[in-house]
Amino acid sequence: MRIGIPMESAPAETRVAATPKTVAQLIKLGYEVVVEQGAGTKASYPDAEYIGVGAEIVGRATAWAADVVSKINPPTDPEITAMSQGATLIALVAAPRSPELLARLADKGLTVLAMDSVPRISRAQSMDVLSSMANIGGYRAVIEAANEFGSFFTGQVTAAGKVPPARVFVSGAGVAGLAAIGTARSLGAIVHATDIRPEVAEQVESMGADFVAVTVEEQQQSTDGYAKEASADYAAAAAKMYAEQAKANDIIITTALIPGKPAPRLITEEMVASMKPGSVLVDMAAGTGGNVAGSVADKLVVTSNGVKIIGYTDLPSRLPTQASQLFGTNVVNLMKLVTPHKDGEMVLDMNDQVQRGMTVVGQGQVMWPPPPVQVSVAPAAAAVPAVVEPREKKKMSPALTWGVLGVCALALLALFWVSPSDLLGHFLVFMLAVVVGYYVIGNVNHALHTPLMSVTNAISGIIIVGSLVGLQSASVSVTVAVLSIVGILLASINIFGGFTVTQRMLAMFRRA
Ligand code: NAI
Repeated sequence: MRIGIPMESAPAETRVAATPKTVAQLIKLGYEVVVEQGAGTKASYPDAEYIGVGAEIVGRATAWAADVVSKINPPTDPEITAMSQGATLIALVAAPRSPELLARLADKGLTVLAMDSVPRISRAQSMDVLSSMANIGGYRAVIEAANEFGSFFTGQVTAAGKVPPARVFVSGAGVAGLAAIGTARSLGAIVHATDIRPEVAEQVESMGADFVAVTVEEQQQSTDGYAKEASADYAAAAAKMYAEQAKANDIIITTALIPGKPAPRLITEEMVASMKPGSVLVDMAAGTGGNVAGSVADKLVVTSNGVKIIGYTDLPSRLPTQASQLFGTNVVNLMKLVTPHKDGEMVLDMNDQVQRGMTVVGQGQVMWPPPPVQVSVAPAAAAVPAVVEPREKKKMSPALTWGVLGVCALALLALFWVSPSDLLGHFLVFMLAVVVGYYVIGNVNHALHTPLMSVTNAISGIIIVGSLVGLQSASVSVTVAVLSIVGILLASINIFGGFTVTQRMLAMFRRA
């Protein structure tokens, strides 16, 4: 099959749906890739680089006539007309807000995989474009704020005096919020953050910020990774908290989002008026109604008291090289999923909840909305009883239990009777080691299991040495030889397996 990468037609769009690196990956999956001339220029990917990895540079009509067209923004009417009947479109389509667009795409007999409808479940994370773009958006929001802010982010002691660090407040600790926290912290600011979902406090703190909780009786527990609307009690308590934070901070970045609803209004005109002159607000939700009173989509507004309100809605496009690479990689991960035989043939499986969730139009039929996907981000302990069918545990009768214990005890006694005298001592040491090991390892936090593995590797080393010593007596006892070989084998599996797992974990932190 042939994949077409057209140039984005939206005037402010600088991104492209595939980079030379992702084109090479698509070709490896068996696809032929055609790229519209100049499609990657604004993102710093010249045509020559696409040719270098095996793509063909073509005119607009040829790119749009491909079997699969991958682009970023929703297609315009002429673009839909330029597509081949029965082709597949991969793009952002804002399905909940675009019933007319979906109808037009269906009329053309297309299949549409919406990159912004990927279900938010762990298996689909590698295709989640909204998260990739929100991550870039959160980073860029801080850079835009720093650009407008008249002071350092980090505190400094200079010959001319002491400069205090900037104080940054982030509202909404989802993907964009956490990225903003990380960026502001790395620039040296003091960062505080809040979210309607209290369970994200730990993530906020792990990024180096302090979590500001809004304490009300009703607490949200998300079932799908997204927030629900706030209660009146919460809104009142939150308003008090925001009023205090507005006075205390130099920069506020708002990212609060409730899917399918207009953005919640968090910062009022009075709060903006109470901020210090020169303070900066970045309203990432300016395009969907705004979290901040007075923010205007795509504009920088300066209030009468000298506060700057940034409402840019194209933050990912302000980092086009990186944004295109992440978008392209999300598309490659999708294509890996739908190309099971790596033969350049796309096979959609509507029983797969990720593919079904993204298919908003299937062979000319509107398929939005998909069946709901229920996943819990709540602590597992709370979720398990809800999904696990209660099963009757068969209990052994007391007589049978005592009987089995008695037989085991007799078997042990018989073993000691026929064994060499020092076996009893060794056995006691072994039993004590089992008890001590059980309590020591059982109490080790999961996060420390890797260092624990090093300890078990050391023990395995001792076992190998012991087994090698045992092997010296192989000429006299076959049993000892066999046991030593088994010991060496098992301990080696532990050591080499441990190194392999550690190696793979370290590779996750290495730059490509
Ligand atoms: P997300 O769903 O991961 O995070 C939103 C967070 O807001 C959630 O943690 C949620 O619990 C929290 N929230 C909801 N209501 C709240 C309230 N009343 N008070 C405090 N927190 C509340 O969403 P994501 O992906 O981080 O996107 C955030 C926003 O950024 C969205 O509005 C998105 O459209 C926008 N965005 C804007 C861009 C731009 O260029 N301006 C680029 C990318 C995303």
